Amino acid sequence: LLAGCGKSDDVLVVGTNAAFPPFEYVGGQSGDEIKGFDIDLAKQIAKDAGKTLKVENMKFDSLIVALNSGKIDFIASGMTITAERQANVNFSEPYYEATQVVLVNKDNDSIHTLEDIKGKHFAVQLGTTADIMSKKYTQNITAFNTGFEAIMELKNSKVDLVLFDSEPAANYLAKNPELKMIKLDFPAEFYGFAVSKEQPELLASINKTLAKMKADGQYQTLVSAHIK
Ligand code: ARG
Repeated sequence: LLAGCGKSDDVLVVGTNAAFPPFEYVGGQSGDEIKGFDIDLAKQIAKDAGKTLKVENMKFDSLIVALNSGKIDFIASGMTITAERQANVNFSEPYYEATQVVLVNKDNDSIHTLEDIKGKHFAVQLGTTADIMSKKYTQNITAFNTGFEAIMELKNSKVDLVLFDSEPAANYLAKNPELKMIKLDFPAEFYGFAVSKEQPELLASINKTLAKMKADGQYQTLVSAHIK
């Protein structure tokens, strides 16, 4: 009966954009495995629901459409809980606190406060909170499908700065010593797993797994393994 539909009852499909280390990235021995903090949390969510996890890698700005068309069951993609997104999806309890940071080339000494980024040429990942927030500071924004491409643009000095989430920024910085990170007074952002508004039971089961993992130390073990 389910032939051709691509989904079955014993599979839970998670959507992600695997260009956001350490939360989700392509790597592993084969070089094509999707790994990361979010993926490990998602695996436990599926396990507790008695299902096998299937990971669908896609563009970040396609995730909510894929969720609401039933192509995926939930989103695990370092997605910040925002009021705008909450109009279209439900979010789990927050599972990670982050913020935006600025990346510049090391010789750039022009940025010390939020005032200093006004009117600068930004590179961002399309559809992210960085993309949305950058509009407060400038009209001059180039948006890419991945943060990695935004960083390449900065390395090639085609833009002044990249606005990006703190942990992935730190992760890319470690591989790009010609760049530096500047922490400005950006608001805290909280990541949540997104679920269709029509799936309250899945949302409850995700929250249950999160609460359990926080209580039994498994959550902290994953933080240490992936992030700090
Ligand atoms: N936290 C930011 C947002 O929600 C960026 C997330 C990007 N995630 C990714 N897997 N590329 O907009």
